[in-house]
Amino acid sequence: MHEKIIIDCDPGQDDAVALFLAMASPDELDILGITTVAGNVPLELTQRNARIICDIAGNHDLSVYAGCSRPMLLDLVTAENVHGMSGLDGVDIYEPIRTIKKTHAIDFIVETLKAASDNSITLVPTGPLTNIAMAMIKEPSISKNIKQIVLMGGAMQEGGNLSPSAEFNILVDPHAAHVVFDSGLPIIVMSLDVTHQVLTTKERVAKIRKINNPVAQATVGMLQFFARYDSAKYGFDGAPLHDPCTIAWLLKPDLFQGKPCHVSIETGSKLTMGHTAVDFWGVTNAMPNVTWMHTVDADGFYVLLTDRLRNFS
Ligand code: BDR
Ligand code: CA
Repeated sequence: MHEKIIIDCDPGQDDAVALFLAMASPDELDILGITTVAGNVPLELTQRNARIICDIAGNHDLSVYAGCSRPMLLDLVTAENVHGMSGLDGVDIYEPIRTIKKTHAIDFIVETLKAASDNSITLVPTGPLTNIAMAMIKEPSISKNIKQIVLMGGAMQEGGNLSPSAEFNILVDPHAAHVVFDSGLPIIVMSLDVTHQVLTTKERVAKIRKINNPVAQATVGMLQFFARYDSAKYGFDGAPLHDPCTIAWLLKPDLFQGKPCHVSIETGSKLTMGHTAVDFWGVTNAMPNVTWMHTVDADGFYVLLTDRLRNFS
């Protein structure tokens, strides 16, 4: 397997770990580019943070593209309370020498897909879905070349983390999520139902700390910062490592269990805006439009992550 992927992200410490995990896996994944979107922090910071992460990983080949600076219709909501003012608190922040590409992220996605063969590229969005939806709207013909979309977003069992009903990535841009979920493409959803199972416990982080390379040490720094908010909020030992679940599924799908379901995105109600209405028990006649992941082998996930972080030594 050599999966061609585009990672669309809003780093974010957990986005950063997803990028590390992908960059550590060149035998399985061919990262065509990293596109960034406004989400956890504004776009100027998410695109800079993606470049910092490439630097830390010693990756000089990957290109980073900046995309949309706000959601399609709503005002941008950010999450500095979770990720810190930089979006990436826990590592040194600086302006990297590697510059941002001049091409807009939407154009990069569209052009890359137009040049690809049918069903050949996997999109991995780990932030609000603005760039992906806008690329589909700009050039609908790209859909035929998208193999699948493996995204982090939504919640059913776990309830919301930004509102009682909605998860952050979907609530920040519910209209974009509506476009993507209704696209008819194969979609794998890593929602809070599954990401809340992969906790950065002290024991797991201690194993990463023992790895003597800059990427593992940066991961520990970020995870320590990241854990403080969620540990206080949920009373968990550690934080849910949301975004790396997408990459982990591409590398080891057997770690996860899911179910084909129909999911609709709420875009009308002020109260439940951004809710993912999951027809988990098939009570409507709607055809499944996603695979809704619900269970993960959390220890297996951390064995994978820890092993791959050793590749940077
Ligand atoms: C999602 O929101 C962001 O804060 C994280 O990076 C993750 O993508 C979790 O709800
Ligand atoms: Ca994210």
